[in-house]
Amino acid sequence: MNKRMEELYNLLEKYNYAYYQNNESLISDYEYDQLLKELIELEKQFPNDKRDDSPTNRVGGYVDKRFQKEALDPPMISLDNVFNFTELKEFDQRIKSMTNKKYTYVCELKIDGLAISIDYDNDLKRALTRGDGAVGENVTHNIKTIKNLPKTVNEKLTVRGETYISKSNFLLVNEKNNNKFKNPRNLASGTIRQLNNEIAKERQLDFFAYGLVNPQQFNLHTYYDAMQYLKQLGFKINEKLTLCKNIDEVIEYIKEITKIRESFNYDIDGIVIKVNEYEIQEELGNTAKYPRWAIAYKFKSSEVETLLEDILLTVGRSGKITPNAVLKPVYLMGTVISRATLHNFNYIKEKDIRINDKVILIKAGDVIPRVERVVINNEERNKPYVIPTNCPVCQTPLVEKDADFFCPNPKCPARHEEALFHFISRNAMNIDGLGEKTIIKLLELGKINDYVDIYKLTEDDFSEVEKFKEKSIENALTSINNSLNQEPYNFIFALGIKHVGLETAKILLNEFGSITNLMNCDYEQLIAINQIGEAIANSLIKYFNNQKHVDDILWMINEKGLKDKLDTAEIDVTNPFYQQTIVLTGILKHFARNDLKQKLEGYGAKITSSVSKNTDLVICGDNPGSKFEKAKSLNIKIIFEEDLLNLLGV
Ligand code: IVH
Repeated sequence: MNKRMEELYNLLEKYNYAYYQNNESLISDYEYDQLLKELIELEKQFPNDKRDDSPTNRVGGYVDKRFQKEALDPPMISLDNVFNFTELKEFDQRIKSMTNKKYTYVCELKIDGLAISIDYDNDLKRALTRGDGAVGENVTHNIKTIKNLPKTVNEKLTVRGETYISKSNFLLVNEKNNNKFKNPRNLASGTIRQLNNEIAKERQLDFFAYGLVNPQQFNLHTYYDAMQYLKQLGFKINEKLTLCKNIDEVIEYIKEITKIRESFNYDIDGIVIKVNEYEIQEELGNTAKYPRWAIAYKFKSSEVETLLEDILLTVGRSGKITPNAVLKPVYLMGTVISRATLHNFNYIKEKDIRINDKVILIKAGDVIPRVERVVINNEERNKPYVIPTNCPVCQTPLVEKDADFFCPNPKCPARHEEALFHFISRNAMNIDGLGEKTIIKLLELGKINDYVDIYKLTEDDFSEVEKFKEKSIENALTSINNSLNQEPYNFIFALGIKHVGLETAKILLNEFGSITNLMNCDYEQLIAINQIGEAIANSLIKYFNNQKHVDDILWMINEKGLKDKLDTAEIDVTNPFYQQTIVLTGILKHFARNDLKQKLEGYGAKITSSVSKNTDLVICGDNPGSKFEKAKSLNIKIIFEEDLLNLLGV
């Protein structure tokens, strides 16, 4: 299988899962769209490697199990994207080549919320989310709380549109919720999924209509007229809805909106362009995923001006000093930003960034905002920024190496803190019962100093930690104890030895089989390993030459029972997946594909991407495609997700 495609499948799977299951955006929409585009191109080039459950086939979304699932009739499809005027003109050319009739366009804002379908039979009867496009979740109770949505229309009709939360409401709600929501979309999505509609009422969802199912039934022939009709019935329609005679007028509209896109009280992530005439919409029809008569023009990046109030230095685990911009909080593309990394001192120098400057922040294609440039006007500026000579935490003189500055003091409290944060982190010892705040508190109270002290903590030690009650203490102690079951390579990674990341730690453990063997190895043995270079070898030898380091590790193994040896698969060979060659296909609802793969591999299974006569078992999710057919024709055992849950005892 094409390596990049595999990578893209895994990435998109992860992002989709986080987005639809956890309401969490791990990357920006723009970046997501770029990855999806890349995958579409690769799938065209390598059709044999295309997976049946490819996210490019999916309309989008998972269905939540807590809500009643109901069919969407007709299904709700989404829009294809363009990112520039060339692509937009190509869209127009395609339409021209498919119809001889004259057509016009309607442009409107693409509000970043959630698509909803609402049925009326005089009264508002039912509201469904888009779900997976074919089946949505019944969220009528929450939709009914929307103030400016008519509850009676004296007609039988289905309206579609976007539900969202305004920026100002988002700020208010977020203030009350410890800033737990990332952006208005995230808040709207969390709100619509509440079982208790008091929450939606309080947070004030909003709705604008952008679709009427079966407009012909009302003798409506254009989208524009349908929207006017909905407006008469009391629906809110897009304030910037505009009729354009041709693609040039559309481009003008986009240019105008781009200038003022940050000024709306809701997030917009683009502009939707639709063929106005229903007759032509029908003539053009849909592809498997998208209508041919509409397109979304997506904005690339956005920028905003704010004040750089200060430059704050942070000290990393290695002692590296990173400058950070402290900004007057501003709202940019869905989040409030008050901090941004300035990367290193060269960055500050090149852009001549000074405290008290007006700066331009941008979010270009990624979620991380950056200070792009300084706005120079006539006002007097501070003197150029001077690189500090001492560590901001322990005052040790800094040393310069390869254009970076480091605090060389291994006992620097900041470095210490960071090292312990790293030790407890997920890929290291995964002690989630201890957060960073607790670590800081325990350090302050003198309850811990080194990582070994974590394993000496008692209930009493926690009693002085603020807000730490019985339950949290129990949690912390259990998770400390559980961490001793982490794999030996997680522990080696946790130690924070310079140049030794998780992958290197795995290579080392595979080679030496145990931590004790690794501790006793010499430079030659290390350097003989393919992926291990001089820097890593030297760093490891230096680390293990320190007797305290060795004593601590031995204490962990001998006194605390830390796993020394790499597990040589203590697999229950009677499990049904043992030594089976398995293919996964279709859309899985209960697992992220990668998690399931790992789980099955843990049972001793081999997961492959295509069905052949060597396949023992095919596990099917929803909408399985050609792999399912092939498995049937080869008489290979097929099971469905429900069967899998039973077999796994979930
Ligand atoms: S039209 C077949 N119009 O963008 C046409 N969608 O990727 C379906 N959206 O799922 C959608 N503003 O959630 C349309 N003015 C607008 C929109 C809009 C936001 C969202 C909607 C849809 C997604 C399309």
